[in-house]
Amino acid sequence: MLRHSPGFRPFRGAGLFDRIGGQPTVDRLVDALYDGFENDELLRPLFPRDLADGRAMQKLFFAEWLGGPHRYSEQAYGSLLHRHESVPVTRAVAGRWLWHFRQALSATVAAEDDRWTILDQAHSLALALVNRSSPAAGERRQHVALHGVGGRVVKRATDLARRGDVAGVDAALAEEPDLLIPTYAGAIMQEAALAGRADVVGSLLRHGVGADTPFRLQVGVVGRAYERVVFATPLCVARLKRRPSVESLLLEAGAREDVFTSAFLGDHSSLVRTLEDEPDLARSPDPAVDVLDITPVDHAVAGGQVEALRVLLGHIAAPWDGGARALRGAAEHGSVPMVELLLDHGADATRIGVGRWVLHPELAPLLAGSGASIDSSGSWIGAACTGNQARKDDPDYVRALLRYGARADDRRTGEPGRTSGVEALNATALHYAAKAGFLRTIEVLLEHGADPRALDSRGHTPLDWLETAARSVPRAAVRELLASQGSTKIGFE
Ligand code: HEM
Repeated sequence: MLRHSPGFRPFRGAGLFDRIGGQPTVDRLVDALYDGFENDELLRPLFPRDLADGRAMQKLFFAEWLGGPHRYSEQAYGSLLHRHESVPVTRAVAGRWLWHFRQALSATVAAEDDRWTILDQAHSLALALVNRSSPAAGERRQHVALHGVGGRVVKRATDLARRGDVAGVDAALAEEPDLLIPTYAGAIMQEAALAGRADVVGSLLRHGVGADTPFRLQVGVVGRAYERVVFATPLCVARLKRRPSVESLLLEAGAREDVFTSAFLGDHSSLVRTLEDEPDLARSPDPAVDVLDITPVDHAVAGGQVEALRVLLGHIAAPWDGGARALRGAAEHGSVPMVELLLDHGADATRIGVGRWVLHPELAPLLAGSGASIDSSGSWIGAACTGNQARKDDPDYVRALLRYGARADDRRTGEPGRTSGVEALNATALHYAAKAGFLRTIEVLLEHGADPRALDSRGHTPLDWLETAARSVPRAAVRELLASQGSTKIGFE
């Protein structure tokens, strides 16, 4: 069910989202659901220590799934299947999840009819997510996963596949049969196809791995996680890397051409042919990401295919409600023609959010002219002023963000009333930049009026944050700069 359109967006156009009370009801529903998980001995260990991010994402997800705005699809990249395959979901676990969901529905959705309609769909989904049999008494084993300890076994198998070690891959599969679960098998297959290892691909096909098993492909290095990937079939990656022997093997095994591959690779003639037969495919959701609304338009953008994008948009009536994700992708590519095409087609620039588009000499004014700006939620602080994810001191980026709407005294907020997580600290850009030791960023912030005495929600100043900085941070220089309040310039190079 999860991989096919019927399971996709069951409530779209049904008016359910508005009928039950819109986003405030969905927020209460998710809060009630997560409050239930917090105290559940069976479910709680399956979730991360901090539930705040999960809650926030689920609010976006359930709003979209219940027929509301498409915000989740703009920010997520995985399928529900992928998201849950590293969570050991037994029938008992699914039953418990559903029990909490039912309680949460009873507490928040007034009409009984609506509650049953929603529960019915959630029930099918929860059962479709069952991926483990119940453990035997006393059994404790490390489950295969894409990340963490369970991810090592997948990493080993993908390394073997990349090196073309057929015997090694066969042995890994014999040792850990869970590697044949589509998510992991897809990862191994993709690695083999990318590297042109026809022998490994042949062996995986003989093990019963589907010729069309998709897996996420990294398509960029900048932007947020969900902007850097697209799901691609083995045939798609074999063509991308020009691996003819892998391609013919897959085609012999029944691999199918699809509109997402044509869009991503810019295969013009195949795209035109496909759309002549079925014009609606231009905006059909990618079944590889089940509940997400990711269409061939997003694939064309991910592949940087301007002409494919033009062809696809030609089959979609304007104005069109999608496009915010594609617009962000096109902007991250720095592609003026793609951004122009999307804006002409009605893509909503006001939803583009934080990104390096602010630095682009043509795109920044183009997008700003269509309503794009950096909002005051302080999400720009996370993107530009923290030392996380190997970010570097980037004063030009910060200056450009400030030019397009960010303010030096913005606080990194988040959900109102949140009591945990970084956002609850309600700190300023200067707090984060001080802790990261970003001297040039601090200087820009001070020039723009940032207050070095600002307090976070615990009463701490940027100087207090500096005390908790990594040892590599040049504390004396940061201290001096903060004390100068921007009036004294010092050299940093
Ligand atoms: C069957 C029992 C289920 C269990 C045990 C379960 C458990 C989990 C866990 C542990 C996560 C990861 C949370 C995190 O990293 O913060 C997750 C994510 C998620 N779950 Fe479930 N889940 C179940 C069913 C469902 C169902 C039926 C739906 C949809 C109706 C759903 C929707 C989601 C979504 C959308 C996410 C990802 C949120 C994000 O993008 O961060 N889950 N689930």
